[in-house]
Amino acid sequence: MRDLATAWTRLEAVAQAAPERRIDSLFDIEPDRLARLSLEAPELFLDLSKQPWSLADLDVALDLARAGGIEAAREALFAGDVVNPSEDRAAQHAALRAAKGADFKAKGEPVSAEIDATRAAIAALAGAVRSGAKRGATGKPFRAIVHIGIGGSDFGPRLVWEALRPLSPQIELRFAANVDPADMALALDGLDPAQTLVVVVSKTFTTLETITNAQVARDWLRAALGTAGDTHLLAVSAAPAVAQAFGVPADQVFGFRDWVGGRYSVWSAVGLSCAIALGAEAFEEFLAGGLAMDDHFRSAPLDQNAPVLLALAHIYNRNGLSRPIRAVVPYAQRLRLLPNFLQQLEMESNGKQTTAHGAPVARATAAAVFGDAGTNVQHAFFQLMHQGTDIIPVDILAVAKASEGESANQPKLTANAIAQAEALMVGKTEAAVRAELAGQPQALIDELAPQKTFHGNRPSSFILLDRLTPRALGALIALYEHKTFVEGVLWEINSFDQWGVELGKTLAVRILAELEGGAPGVHDPSTTSLVTRLKV
Ligand code: F6P
Repeated sequence: MRDLATAWTRLEAVAQAAPERRIDSLFDIEPDRLARLSLEAPELFLDLSKQPWSLADLDVALDLARAGGIEAAREALFAGDVVNPSEDRAAQHAALRAAKGADFKAKGEPVSAEIDATRAAIAALAGAVRSGAKRGATGKPFRAIVHIGIGGSDFGPRLVWEALRPLSPQIELRFAANVDPADMALALDGLDPAQTLVVVVSKTFTTLETITNAQVARDWLRAALGTAGDTHLLAVSAAPAVAQAFGVPADQVFGFRDWVGGRYSVWSAVGLSCAIALGAEAFEEFLAGGLAMDDHFRSAPLDQNAPVLLALAHIYNRNGLSRPIRAVVPYAQRLRLLPNFLQQLEMESNGKQTTAHGAPVARATAAAVFGDAGTNVQHAFFQLMHQGTDIIPVDILAVAKASEGESANQPKLTANAIAQAEALMVGKTEAAVRAELAGQPQALIDELAPQKTFHGNRPSSFILLDRLTPRALGALIALYEHKTFVEGVLWEINSFDQWGVELGKTLAVRILAELEGGAPGVHDPSTTSLVTRLKV
């Protein structure tokens, strides 16, 4: 561990020089900069040359990765060792997307046969629903699915559906997550219960929001179809008995295991609604993309390893340059939910102040992530990105070839993606601005020139997909999963637990009881006043 501490100290020391130099000038003094900092990974091209590190700094960052034991940690992850010690669990999401007949284990227990069986059951159900072989209680084919879940039981499937829905207009998929009744009302609006499947997804099957919404959906089905409405219920859970007790027919409950973390679960039966709505072939392609990235992560040398380099670029900004925020901007409307997905993946995984051994962390951990689709964000927060007082690193994503029917606009989109990355790095000098203003009164030029100057030197990572296919989406999500894992290893935290979400849940249950007439609890004056105000 002393090696790791030394490696951290070196990284933090070399990064101190970065603000004093220009990223764009590094291309002049480092002829192989672009070659060393860009790479082809499965389904995507990654360019990290607009990050503030020099190539010498990159070597220091790679030393940090080695000192942090990334290679051994990676092997432990794929071997199914306990990498989530506070819950005594493996994190074996890679097994879910392995080739059929693989031999993965979780804590020594073979898991691949069960995974293959679940994948076959998902494919069979998806095929039956899509072909009309499986119909509703009144004999009509299913036309819609309402997916109920929250957090990891929602973000992944929602992202996958939004990204890939043009593939399959046959079945509409809607989502409800929030306990706000408005969310369920919108999800059910205009749907025919006789032609709707409800998929309730909850690892624990105890989550307040999900169970509340599932009850609403069950009542909605029963009101139209009587008790036969329950045959339109499907469940996905690591607690199948609880799902059955809720009323889901036993043969419509799909399981997954506790070694699948919620935010890593889209590859499991949690993706069932997507498999039905998009087709099992598309879902299998999505899994294959994840597998391709797993193979790359496991086999590529660290200096050509996309998840490792993406993590190190982030760490350089986060720890070397104390930058607490990162933006994610997909120049693809269909990827607009990627930032939401990454908020849970990165902030729930790595928003930790204690190491996996219970000691205070030695340095800052996950940055806050925000973002939305380009070009929209250029008309929202990009002013601050270019000229604000904080430097915010950004992941810019683009798709080279449009899906059918969108192609005429695609160059406008990609041109903006490239232009923003260039503008952030290169900026526009005051001299150039003054030259443009020449001829205006000098006092006006003096006033305007600084306001129109872009200092630039603002970092970005660029991720380019060839097309937004199921396979490319799978590779992209797995890229970010492994990036998150690498960061967690270097920060010495457990990326697979989430104790920080528990306290609020417990307090909400107590406060709900008080709001509904229960005995007043002991709170601070502010909380007491709010409870009193809202008591029914
Ligand atoms: O947000 C907290 C959390 O525990 C997440 O980790 C999880 O993805 C989400 O709640 C939903 O949990 P469940 O799938 O058990 O309903």
